Amino acid sequence: MAPTERPLVVAANRLPLARAEDGSWTTSPGGLVRALLPTVQETKGSWVGWTGERDGQAEVVHADGIDLYPVPITSDEVDRYYEGFSNGTLWPLYHDAIRESNYRSDEWDSYVDVNQRFAIQIANIAPPHAAVWVHDYHLQLVPGLLRELRNDVRIGWFNHIPFPPLELFQRLPWRSEIIKGLLGADVLGFQRRQGAHNFMSAAQNLLDATELDEGLVHYEGRNVNVGAYPISIDVEDFELQASGRATRQRTAQIRSRLGDPEVILLGVDRLDYTKGIGNRLQAFGELLDQGRLDPERHVLVQVATPTREGVEQYQDERREIEQIVGEINGRHSRLGFPVIHYLYQSLPLDELIPLYRAGDVMLVTPFRDGMNLVAKEYVAAHVDGDGVLVLSEFTGAADELGEALLVNPHDDHALQNTIVRAVEMHRHERRPRMEAMRKRLETSTVSDWAKSFLDVLIDS
Ligand code: F6P
Repeated sequence: MAPTERPLVVAANRLPLARAEDGSWTTSPGGLVRALLPTVQETKGSWVGWTGERDGQAEVVHADGIDLYPVPITSDEVDRYYEGFSNGTLWPLYHDAIRESNYRSDEWDSYVDVNQRFAIQIANIAPPHAAVWVHDYHLQLVPGLLRELRNDVRIGWFNHIPFPPLELFQRLPWRSEIIKGLLGADVLGFQRRQGAHNFMSAAQNLLDATELDEGLVHYEGRNVNVGAYPISIDVEDFELQASGRATRQRTAQIRSRLGDPEVILLGVDRLDYTKGIGNRLQAFGELLDQGRLDPERHVLVQVATPTREGVEQYQDERREIEQIVGEINGRHSRLGFPVIHYLYQSLPLDELIPLYRAGDVMLVTPFRDGMNLVAKEYVAAHVDGDGVLVLSEFTGAADELGEALLVNPHDDHALQNTIVRAVEMHRHERRPRMEAMRKRLETSTVSDWAKSFLDVLIDS
């Protein structure tokens, strides 16, 4: 069969559309959906995933040019598989264990059940010889389970978050089961070379897999390709939207609403403890305390998108951040002019893009992040060739955006000094840095990412 004839089936925890409380469909949050939807639409593929509802229905929906196959998840499974094992065990462990993980066998059992349900649903709907592309840490058992059900399909898996080093990964009581599940794939993709390397090392140490060649692992009679495929965004679409008249007008309006400050600093994140929002705000507050920044000339806008609100660690993080915002605003705001504008909201793209354009300094300071598409979105939105990106060394994006001001977010002094450096940077330095990042981004878009992965998957 010619590679181009292979129909594409995507499986991810979430469908690209989620059912709202009033029964209507809205676009799901998160970079994964934004990155992948155009590719699936182009290939007229199918998407298997969860609607975001507790005890939802399973009927097929045709929307946005693709077939959506919902996998029903019970309320108990939302607690155990999604909030529990995926986001209370795997998420913190895979992000350098910056929060303590829970290791509960009832949550693991639920994870196994839901992975099985996904595998069965994919096996039922995948056309013969399809290319099945499974996504993320929620579905690490699917490759192995699906292989047992359908040997005619090609199976790829891509991890949108970091894959941890062996010394952390081996804490997981079910570490061998996870590696075995992943080795059911033909191709395993990671954001960074380090992630691919960490997986290889886990496969060799925990199972008797052997590395045949760089990026090729042999296990139980089969070869699996393992490599790095850094994800990106739809750069052209961002540029187009960013250069429109409506965006320019809204950008000017935002600046004026904020009191036309000299410098607008901006943070845009899901409200997640991996993102380093608190440290960044503290650094900004310290700089105001020391008089190195001036509340009349410098303001910070922090968009914190609500996420995983049922998970305790996220509730704690929100409380902490809101306390910091309150303290800094209490000390430094003037009547009618808060120094931090804090939005606990999910903004639509037509509001986010003008905000990116209004941001003179973008602060992306996670403690660990698989890629961080916000950094790329900021660069793509700056069609004016201006703006400074402060970027954590611990993001995948730092591999590609070397002209950003790279910083260690654990180092308070470095963070403060880097923010000051960004605020004071002369346009003669700003513009070439931004130009270089924009050029690189234009040659590495989300369709390049999808194509490079699918080429290997189809040919393997
Ligand atoms: O990038 C990791 C990820 O889990 C994506 O799968 C998702 O798009 C995003 O974070 C948001 O998370 P959630 O689906 O838990 O709201």
